[in-house]
Amino acid sequence: MPLPGLLLEGAREVATMAGGLRRGGAQADAGLLAADDAALVVACWEGRVLAAGRRDEVARRLAAEGLDPDDAGRFERVDVGGGVVTPGLIDPHTHLVFAGSREGEIELRRRGAGYLEILAAGGGILSTVAATRRASVDELVASGRRWLREMLRHGVTTVEAKSGYGLERDAELRQLEAVGRLDGQGPVELVPTFLGAHAVAPEFRGQPAAADAYVRDVVEVQLPAVAAQGIARFCDVFCEEGVFTPAQARRVLEAGARLGLTPRLHADELRPSGGAELAASLRAAAADHLGVPSPEGIDALARAAEGSSPVVATLLPATSLFLKAEAYGPARELISRGVPLALGTDFNPGTSPTPNLQLVLSLGVLRMGLSAAEALAAVTINAAHALRLGDTHGSIEPGRQADLVAWDVPSIEQIPYWLGADLVRTVVKRGRMVKDRGDGA
Ligand code: NIG
Ligand code: FE
Repeated sequence: MPLPGLLLEGAREVATMAGGLRRGGAQADAGLLAADDAALVVACWEGRVLAAGRRDEVARRLAAEGLDPDDAGRFERVDVGGGVVTPGLIDPHTHLVFAGSREGEIELRRRGAGYLEILAAGGGILSTVAATRRASVDELVASGRRWLREMLRHGVTTVEAKSGYGLERDAELRQLEAVGRLDGQGPVELVPTFLGAHAVAPEFRGQPAAADAYVRDVVEVQLPAVAAQGIARFCDVFCEEGVFTPAQARRVLEAGARLGLTPRLHADELRPSGGAELAASLRAAAADHLGVPSPEGIDALARAAEGSSPVVATLLPATSLFLKAEAYGPARELISRGVPLALGTDFNPGTSPTPNLQLVLSLGVLRMGLSAAEALAAVTINAAHALRLGDTHGSIEPGRQADLVAWDVPSIEQIPYWLGADLVRTVVKRGRMVKDRGDGA
């Protein structure tokens, strides 16, 4: 039986991320506690954070609750070796569950083909759809588990996971069932999103007004089945010139919202397509990609950010890297306009085959002009808000879910700095240690 209490001891820095959603100048506030003598402790009790601070302060807080940190029958103790403790990382945008791989598209693009051109020719997303439709739920679960292990290894404890490679009711349901099973298996927590409107299904292509006809299928056939099973929390659409228009995306997202699914969307990835404007108008939880939003789109997000439930701009720099895009998204402008910024991997077999959110953090610093603290906020507290989990996840504060990472580096600046290195020493999910490599390799 695991003990109810856990103490992470011997930290030099704790990035608590306390204080809620970050926008504007606050994006750079890591809520940092620091101690040169590595005397910082994070205490967890029954899955929640109890206290964080210097050893003596934490001991006093525990005593006030009638708890003794030296009680070996109740507290497990883990030394983090003078490293940094942060909240568990949250990946707010992935296409985790799919079958097959698409390395051949690297060569097609090298010879000059465009991403949407490959899709229009029946490849791209549609080749993953063909493979995913053939896969059983067990196969999808096995593949998802493999990549979740990689995510956990890089410090990720919560992951959003989309459907969108089925494009018909039963195959979409199978993908979401796989996400639900993976969530049940743990330790990584999954947040399911229905993305039936990811591309026009092959059966509809070639008929007049194919996209409208397919949107009708999404709204009238797929969405009601997904909602009836209660297996998705969000509804997403690939809103992009040449895929789904803002009007089509609105139809899907409003229908989803009527059935209890919160809207989020793929917006303005390759061209300004009205996605940011739509996200703001629907009060979506997040507008994702935003490689090239229009000035009006940025204005709309800035206005939404003044309200009580801002749209979180979720930028996906690994996709820009993988597609050799010039644009990594206007991160600095969004921050200066007060728009909260998150970062995600966009893990998928076509445009971002990396499960490594730590690498994304580095890209945020190296290619988007973020500071280490800004990038860290983007993959913790702001990513939690992008998933509407901002009240329970993404920070180290009393009462919060105890999802933590101890890193083998002495400062948060070194997390993005050691590019691609394996820095994660200990991972805690819901107050339980799910990975610990001690001081060995
Ligand atoms: O977010 N852009 C749309 N969808 C995914 C890519 C999916 C794929 O190519 O398989 C993305 O980049
Ligand atoms: Fe995506």
